[in-house]
Amino acid sequence: MTQISWFQNKHIVLGVTGGIACYKACELARELGRRGAVVQVVMTKTATAFVSALTFQSLTGREVKVSMLDPKAEAGMGHIELARWADLILVAPCTANTMALLARGQAPDLLSTLWAAATCEKAVAPAMNQQMWEHPETQANLERLFGKAQIIGPDSGIQACGDVGSGRMSEALEIANTLEATLNRGPLAARRVVITAGPTHEPVDPVRYLSNRSSGKMGFALAEVANRLGAAVTLIAGPVHLEAPAGVETASDMHAAVHSALDEVDLFVGAAAVCDMRPTFVSRQKLKKSKNDLSQLILTENIDIIHSVATSPNRPSLVIGFAAETERVLEHARQKLTTKSLDAVIANCVASGEIFGQDETEATIVFSDSDQKLVPGTKSEVAQEIFATLSPLLAKGIRNEPGI
Ligand code: C5P
Repeated sequence: MTQISWFQNKHIVLGVTGGIACYKACELARELGRRGAVVQVVMTKTATAFVSALTFQSLTGREVKVSMLDPKAEAGMGHIELARWADLILVAPCTANTMALLARGQAPDLLSTLWAAATCEKAVAPAMNQQMWEHPETQANLERLFGKAQIIGPDSGIQACGDVGSGRMSEALEIANTLEATLNRGPLAARRVVITAGPTHEPVDPVRYLSNRSSGKMGFALAEVANRLGAAVTLIAGPVHLEAPAGVETASDMHAAVHSALDEVDLFVGAAAVCDMRPTFVSRQKLKKSKNDLSQLILTENIDIIHSVATSPNRPSLVIGFAAETERVLEHARQKLTTKSLDAVIANCVASGEIFGQDETEATIVFSDSDQKLVPGTKSEVAQEIFATLSPLLAKGIRNEPGI
């Protein structure tokens, strides 16, 4: 089961300035990386006296940038290019000095120059002694930054210098969570989406399993697009050859994972090609053809996961299934809509077998009282069309319940 974060594939410039809270920026760099961001650290010269550039390089896998006038850096990704590359510049910790530069548009070093040149999202997490924080000029700079950058913290408490007051940098997790919640402004912001993808494997014996030809590409494309539109996405994938953290194996595992993720979900999309059957008995030894063992294979029907979701007390507002059919596609899709209590079914014709594993697809969204043929395209393009149709239904809170 994978939670997909807003930070996934986002380009973040993490500006680190010279205060003792630099050590917390190490944890922050890791946390952003854990959430899938590509993190480019830019340090002020003073910051390098607190934590070495090598530490951040090891944490992010990218060479840290410090100097404006580094010929190597300018030949590679110069400051303007870096300003264009960034989706977010986050300065954490931000000292009183750097706050003053950013607030006043002064640009004596790489970080402040980047800030002045960038039009992307911006955020600062101030960190300084409480007297410096309370200083009228610091507060005036803070005022200047309001509306131009998100200010996270500072927290109050005992400071490294022994003072007690406001000025401690917020914790890494809090900074990441705050940004995650506020920067996400897509049409699916604050929506929770659970998607299943790929096939399942139903073990026969220690070396064999029953499965099907699903590649998982459609489900992954849906998860990627939902994430881009701002949803908090949980992707539950069977065994696939796509880049994915640990998935589930059997229909029974997938069923358990789905129900453990079903709290306050807005949209469930069952894109997985769940095996309808599993061997009733899984042999502990490899079955032998010489003994005609395979002819003894008895099958038991698997639970229908999507039907169990659609009829659960935790039912998401919209439950959308897939129907891969070889004939009378729309008719069969509509039958599924009713028998499984779904709100819509995405119907694919797989008569030629050409959709499995391909990057392109064609589909029709079948509702109880209408159909919408989607423009054929890559699975990512079709996923965008699917969400373009589903997002307004969620926004209006309309459930296209079968029979209504
Ligand atoms: O009945 P059929 O397997 O063709 O229905 C396909 C739809 O039902 C897909 O959305 C698939 O993810 C879902 N399904 C399920 N659990 C099963 C079988 C299918 O969730 N055991």
